[in-house]
Amino acid sequence: MLAWYDRHARALPWRSPPGTPPPDPYRVWLSEVMLQQTTVAAVRTHFARFTQRWPTVRDLAAAHDEAVMTAWAGLGYYARARNMLACARAVVADHGGHFPGDEQGLLTLPGIGRYTAAAIAAIAFGRRAVVVDGNVERVVARLFAVETPLPAAKPELYALTDRITPSERPGDFAQAMMDLGATICTPRNPLCALCPLDRDCAARASGDPARLPRKVPK
Ligand code: ADE
Repeated sequence: MLAWYDRHARALPWRSPPGTPPPDPYRVWLSEVMLQQTTVAAVRTHFARFTQRWPTVRDLAAAHDEAVMTAWAGLGYYARARNMLACARAVVADHGGHFPGDEQGLLTLPGIGRYTAAAIAAIAFGRRAVVVDGNVERVVARLFAVETPLPAAKPELYALTDRITPSERPGDFAQAMMDLGATICTPRNPLCALCPLDRDCAARASGDPARLPRKVPK
């Protein structure tokens, strides 16, 4: 996965190139908060807008609520924007303007849940953390041919992701898994011929990878 990421990582404004020092935790946090339930395309412009106007977490913490809400327009779910502002203020008030470097510390902050804490710990701080979003769930369900339907499969998928997560370059590994899910191991018509996990993938071996993950009908 890391070798694949070195060649195929999507160039995104909040990333540093594969294998180079990690990006600013503030930028990682901002991008992850924006990416919750929003596409990469929509986030690009908003991310640029926010980082130009508020280059540091201290700048954002000092912003007027209305200015932030206006800049957020288009990303939806204003509760997230409010949590984001509360988080920036907590980082300044309680942590001297520096994001905590581990998952436990990150989880105490407003709007930061299990996924976001793991993502920031891995991507910004190089900590080994198990980063599981919807894309990763799909990749792992196929790789191990997990037949349990979602959402019941979540603990199993988390445990399997834990098993394959390296301590070397955990942030690049997490983002490689997310990129693979977004670009190759897609929900329909996955591009298995281009996949670095092709030969290891149990769902691929079964002949119909798009069948997984199974889902309980809503
Ligand atoms: N989706 C959410 N966070 C992401 C990231 N860091 N890379 C790729 N896709 C993502």
